[in-house]
Amino acid sequence: MKHDELVKLALKAKEFAYAPYSKFKVGAAILTDDGEVFTGCNIENSSYSLTICAERVAIFKAYSTGKRKFKSIAIVSDAKNYTSPCGACRQVLMDLAGEELEVILTNSKGRKKILKLKELLPLPFSSKDLKTKGGIIHGHHRV
Ligand code: THU
Repeated sequence: MKHDELVKLALKAKEFAYAPYSKFKVGAAILTDDGEVFTGCNIENSSYSLTICAERVAIFKAYSTGKRKFKSIAIVSDAKNYTSPCGACRQVLMDLAGEELEVILTNSKGRKKILKLKELLPLPFSSKDLKTKGGIIHGHHRV
């Protein structure tokens, strides 16, 4: 699937955004390794912190149908600037999709910026860190 097709699906998902408080509508579309696409939009809440971002909705939808491997995610909004995933979404994507995930940022002019997740979240905390005991992994001291 081409980047532009994934962006198109994210744009469609943006229309379903529920953002009565911020009025900032976001859409996301994540592509699995077997060519399926799951979309998401942001869903806000009157108790603001319960809001969930478009990216997490998309990957949770995919996970909930058993998908575990992903190629890329496209993110769209109506903003002039590139819309980049928030810190919470970067962490979730790192755990659930991995550092090689391709992240397609877009702006309202239709421009794209493509990065790897590891560029957006360097030095991540991950499941590997939970396997350590006293700072040692497989007999090697961590740096
Ligand atoms: N938002 C997303 O859905 N994804 C992003 O990448 C940035 C932020 C949402 C959360 C909230 O509903 C609104 O945008 C404003 O922060």
